[in-house]
Amino acid sequence: MKKTVPNRSRLTAILPHMQNAIPRQPQFIQLHREDHAAVRAELIAGLLAPTATTAPKYLYDALGSRLFEAITELPEYYPTRTEAALFTEHKDAIAAALPAGATLVDLGAGNCEKAARLFEALQPSRYVAVDISVEFLRGALLRLQRQHPALEMIGVGLDFSSTLALPPEVGDGPRVLFYPGSSIGNFTPTEALAFLTQARAACQGGGLLICVDLVKPTSILEPAYDDALGVTAAFNKNLLLYINRLIGSDFAVQDWAHQAFFNTEQSRIEMQLQALRDVTVRWPGGQRIFVAGERIHTENSYKYQGADFDALLRQAGFQHTRVWQDAQGWFAVFWAQGI
Ligand code: AVJ
Repeated sequence: MKKTVPNRSRLTAILPHMQNAIPRQPQFIQLHREDHAAVRAELIAGLLAPTATTAPKYLYDALGSRLFEAITELPEYYPTRTEAALFTEHKDAIAAALPAGATLVDLGAGNCEKAARLFEALQPSRYVAVDISVEFLRGALLRLQRQHPALEMIGVGLDFSSTLALPPEVGDGPRVLFYPGSSIGNFTPTEALAFLTQARAACQGGGLLICVDLVKPTSILEPAYDDALGVTAAFNKNLLLYINRLIGSDFAVQDWAHQAFFNTEQSRIEMQLQALRDVTVRWPGGQRIFVAGERIHTENSYKYQGADFDALLRQAGFQHTRVWQDAQGWFAVFWAQGI
């Protein structure tokens, strides 16, 4: 079921003299519906697997999202500030490489801040903010619309990690898909290829502007995911409280320790929760016994070699690519052109 609000063009078609009197309003479209039974079944199946596993999306309830924002300010967590510095330094070169006047599609938009910083340089014809729930976008888009009254804005509630099928309201013409934050690292390389292939198809001859975290010494990587203040530990353990609410389980935070290590063979940070003692976790209709030392795998964050990610983009059908990196080669912004 799609819910839309009348947009400005429809209103001004009826009332042409009202052109300037009616401020433009963002349009909101919710495509994704949380199916509680499916969430529950997926979580329980993951908890009962030989190595208990939960999807990284369960790190982001309201508190988890705030803890993640705190992570981005930690001295050890280099990705967010390295990415911001790259966009500041190369804004003009990036804008010059991109098609002018395209539709800017912000994947995982959240507070829409990263994309808004690009408006001036990119001059998009339309801004489409995509996140799992339109409710996450409502406040940010209404605020942004007041700052940019002439720009057409659409908020789309869509779980693009399963399919990147954008609604027709996003319109014709080339699209710049914007996927910052190095969240592509949550996908396995196989899943990443599937995602990039869908992005190639969805960009309508525009392209993909995507940020990727690169391989670097373990002595830099591990503290970024196990900081001295313990914010990442809190972020990881908070998942247990969220799961308790979702499935009615009785996880006790104090029974679990945060762990993050770089798996060099797989080129990924693995985040886990390790049982500090033997624990039995119960939920309506089931339970799992964890022996002391047993782990729940809560997140993967893959790190790429720049050349390997470029090869993945080409495998997905992108033919022209550009890359901007910081001096240390820690983080990369890729532009991959859709034709
Ligand atoms: C939001 C997926 C990019 O992998 O660095 C940060 C999430 N997890 N600290 C990352 C995260 C622990 C983050 N991403």
